Amino acid sequence: MKITTLTNPRQTILLTSRAGNKDNVMTLDWHTPLSFEPMMYAVSIAKARYSLELVRSSKVFVVNFMSCQFEKEVLYCGRHSGKYIDKFKETSLEREEAETINCPRIKQALGYLECQVQEELEVGDHILFVARVSKAELREKGKRLFHLFADKFTTTEE
Ligand SMILES: Cc1cc2nc3c(=O)[nH]c(=O)nc-3n(C[C@H](O)[C@H](O)[C@H](O)COP(=O)(O)O)c2cc1C
Repeated sequence: MKITTLTNPRQTILLTSRAGNKDNVMTLDWHTPLSFEPMMYAVSIAKARYSLELVRSSKVFVVNFMSCQFEKEVLYCGRHSGKYIDKFKETSLEREEAETINCPRIKQALGYLECQVQEELEVGDHILFVARVSKAELREKGKRLFHLFADKFTTTEE
């Protein structure tokens, strides 16, 4: 049995990252709040992901909370590696600059967390990044995206 059989549905987010002149977006279910004060957040990135290289070298990332209208884009970013393509070019996702870190953010996100990595922990086949949130904003309430399994998603009532 896969662990996700028990743990899903989970809210699916888009993680944006940058290293040098390369910007990237990846889809991620494994993320969690850790602390109110200071505001802390963690994400778990598999060793094979291109985003891992970017987050490791820049020590920053943005967690973008998306509405269920972006299911198609979320699936695309979770099925293609930024090592070979520019996902901002290939999708309707629009880039904007984060305010507290040198990293892209997604313009259409309902809300976001700008994160600065404090610790990196190897956990089996993933790397857990523990980060301090340097800016958090909820722009608008909306129906968010929750992953069930494979290419199936669900959402909330409001
Ligand atoms: C719904 C969904 C959730 C995902 N959650 C994670 C996750 O929590 N951690 C992870 O490392 N990969 C996760 N992935 C896989 C990556 O998004 C996928 O491998 C992606 O192509 C990585 O992009 P990159 O190579 O450009 O970093 C998920 C994929 C999907 C479709």
